[in-house]
Amino acid sequence: MNILVEKSTCQKAKPDEKNLGFGQHFTDHMFVMDYTEGKGWHDPRIVPYGKIALDPSAMVFHYGQAVFEGLKAYRNKKNPDEILLFRPKSNFERLNVSNDRLCIPPIDVDFALSALIELVKLEKDWIPREEGTSLYIRPFIIATDPFLGVRPSYTYKFMIILSPVGAYYPEGLNPVKIYVEDKYVRAVRGGLGYTKASANYAASIKAQMEAKEKHYTQVLWLDGIERKYIEEVGTMNIFFVIGDEIVTPMLNGSILAGITRDSVIQILKHEGYKVSERQISIQEIYEKHQSGELKEAFGTGTAAVISPVGELNWDDNVISISNGKIGRISQKLYDLLTGIQTGKIDDPFGWTIKIK
Ligand code: COI
Repeated sequence: MNILVEKSTCQKAKPDEKNLGFGQHFTDHMFVMDYTEGKGWHDPRIVPYGKIALDPSAMVFHYGQAVFEGLKAYRNKKNPDEILLFRPKSNFERLNVSNDRLCIPPIDVDFALSALIELVKLEKDWIPREEGTSLYIRPFIIATDPFLGVRPSYTYKFMIILSPVGAYYPEGLNPVKIYVEDKYVRAVRGGLGYTKASANYAASIKAQMEAKEKHYTQVLWLDGIERKYIEEVGTMNIFFVIGDEIVTPMLNGSILAGITRDSVIQILKHEGYKVSERQISIQEIYEKHQSGELKEAFGTGTAAVISPVGELNWDDNVISISNGKIGRISQKLYDLLTGIQTGKIDDPFGWTIKIK
């Protein structure tokens, strides 16, 4: 399929790279493609970034058939003219996993990647250069059929928008404080937890707001049935360093299979660490903290990168970790992962795709 390109007639002023924040600025163009039952995906195009018109009865507004992805483009530190994408195919493959669960038709992964490459090339000047910044890429699909009955939509829009970003959390690489959520649940097995459905994030907001009132940045979700086992932190997967073992909850059907999570597991194994994907109860974390064996905790995610956790609050038991400082392993991982992503160090895993 040929991608039609309609260039914007005016270019927006670029934001201050030192104060990008997250998800506040959008580039000049976006990618759009439509789906119609019987016709498949059609009319791929790159057009000026702007509003889209949808019927108020569009199914996404009523039944939430919406999925998304998040990945990043970086300037190669060794050659700032070259763009690097980090494991982009994995994101489009995961989008299809989400699509399948929400009865959204699959996209062609190779085509989506070629569309992304064309868009990113056109928007190259928007990729920031400052340390710790990148161009965040947000592919998403919404159901557009004007219909109020409950069934899968017959029409969809697949779009990719781009946003130059800095750190996701205002704390940057400083440790975040996390509230262990035991009132609300994010997901249960058999539900949407393993997908990147927008609904998962809608379900998380109330807990996040209540945690914020208590001065916590995010919540740590427990399993939806026993409220005992650790799952994830809504915007990131979670790892703990316990003695000489690095543990993370195993993928059980209600946890997102993070691409950063997978990369971190592979990097840690490559560096000779012992990594276990297993069930971890919050009680165990509390006990390992009491016994002094809990050395570090950190979150992993595309937006969050590596985010050290300095404190967990579980039912008013305060678990303070690494004296509120970034731990040795968290720092090492951050340096290795961002080093690979930005071309500062060689990529022994073949994860990065170079675009000229
Ligand atoms: C990402 O890390 O890319 C995410 O999708 C998390 C997000 C909701 C900001």
